[in-house]
Amino acid sequence: MSPVGRGRGWWGPRVRSAPLVGLLFVLIGLPAHAQSQAPSLDVPFVPTPAEAVSAMLKLAGVKQDDVVYDLGSGDGRIVIAAARQHGARGVGIDIDPARIAEGERNARAEGVANRVRFVRQDLFDADIRDATVVTLYLLPRLNQRLRPKLLAELKPGTRIVSYGFDMGDWVPERSVEVGSSAVHLWVIPRRPE
Ligand SMILES: C[S@@+](CC[C@H](N)C(=O)[O-])C[C@H]1O[C@@H](n2cnc3c(N)ncnc32)[C@H](O)[C@@H]1O
Repeated sequence: MSPVGRGRGWWGPRVRSAPLVGLLFVLIGLPAHAQSQAPSLDVPFVPTPAEAVSAMLKLAGVKQDDVVYDLGSGDGRIVIAAARQHGARGVGIDIDPARIAEGERNARAEGVANRVRFVRQDLFDADIRDATVVTLYLLPRLNQRLRPKLLAELKPGTRIVSYGFDMGDWVPERSVEVGSSAVHLWVIPRRPE
């Protein structure tokens, strides 16, 4: 991991290539019937690479007393790693029932089913007030749409880490490079008295 500035991909100044290209390939590759039968996803399932998962948890400084929420939790790898590697508790939120079942299976297989749970829900409706860390691998426009919810509902001091994508003009406290991608960290500020 090394500190980075803003990425400079062909789609604009703030996005680095690997995470977005991965998401686009999965979406284009889905057959039409699969797309129509699947739950309505704002972003397809593309897993964060293991190296980036470790970097996200390290950048957020995850510890045993943290509650890590992954919004769009996929196969559960981030909350499972938070429990296995740092002893934290985790909550995975995903709208796709297949992903929820996969996350629960993986948590059992990794021996952390007592520390993580999964909720099938639209991430924009989720109750995230319990979180001390929030992890994201979504899309730039989803990060932007989520930003008011994060700022309104999360406790001051809660850390947010995003793989690949930033939050527009909300400048990260820190960014690190993992391979050809960036991981960004923000901290919820104290609210005015
Ligand atoms: C790019 S994957 C990231 C998976 C996981 N967080 C990771 O980093 O490996 C995005 C996930 O978001 C889920 N998702 C898409 N739209 C959603 C929504 N509106 N609410 C909750 N989950 C959603 C998808 O099912 C998918 O599992």
